[in-house]
Amino acid sequence: MDYLKVRVPATSANLGAGFDVFGIALETPFDIIEVEKSDKTEIVVTGRSSQYVPTDPKKNTAGIVASILKKPVKLTIHRNIPLSSGLGSSAAPAAGVAYALNELYDLGLSMEELVKIAAQGEKGASGAAHADNVAPAIYGGFVIVHNDKIISLMPENIGIVAVHPDIIVSTRTARAILPKKLSLADISFNTGNAASMVVGMMRSDIRLIGESMENRVIENVRSKLIKGYAQVKKSALAAGAAGVTISGSGPTMIAVCRMYERNRIAKAMTQAFSGSRIRSEAFITTIGKGIEIVE
Ligand code: HSE
Repeated sequence: MDYLKVRVPATSANLGAGFDVFGIALETPFDIIEVEKSDKTEIVVTGRSSQYVPTDPKKNTAGIVASILKKPVKLTIHRNIPLSSGLGSSAAPAAGVAYALNELYDLGLSMEELVKIAAQGEKGASGAAHADNVAPAIYGGFVIVHNDKIISLMPENIGIVAVHPDIIVSTRTARAILPKKLSLADISFNTGNAASMVVGMMRSDIRLIGESMENRVIENVRSKLIKGYAQVKKSALAAGAAGVTISGSGPTMIAVCRMYERNRIAKAMTQAFSGSRIRSEAFITTIGKGIEIVE
């Protein structure tokens, strides 16, 4: 076997309470990545915002993974996940190539090992090796990443609306502005929400998931980078969302709701962004599966 084509899902990290710990795979959007054995690594990028994705293997998250595994490859990355959106756009190629190379070369790496390698690739883009996007991309479902442990489960029928506003937020900046110290009260609040979130996911309890999405510290600081945030959140909740927060480091906002409420909530959120003169795009989706081989 010299060639593989994989489908890699967008992901949403943090879910409010679980900063650098929680992540979910989304059913849509997704990237398609073609991986072919070669003498030297070459990268071609097509699709959405492809002109902004580095094709130098040393600067591309997927190229870095190929170099870590010492397997030169020809990569064709068909982008559909919006760039710098908070939907795991730099994690997806890193995760996809780690997964594909493991299959192509029969490397026998475990899923945990693939996550570690893909996170190193992503570090090239964000400056920090956090695995809360690459892990759900590989495992699918809801994932808890803690030290070297990864725990995953697949909640069912969770409506997700991810609205990507036309605002630029880099992960590096969104991490740099975070406080280095938290008060005991904030730690206690976030721990309570994180614990409730896990139970919500285990029970596929939309109400409990939504109520557990708040992270006072991170949300307060990062929401200032997203024009219209408060109004969009208010509109989503008024339209029936169980909870709303920032997807990863933003600027995408993610709402959890019942499946049949998704269209109404998407409309409310995009209209609220329009009210702040911000164009936005809604992805109406659900918690989905991890990487799949398509060819
Ligand atoms: N957990 C990371 C952050 C995700 O919030 O900075 C970045 O995509």
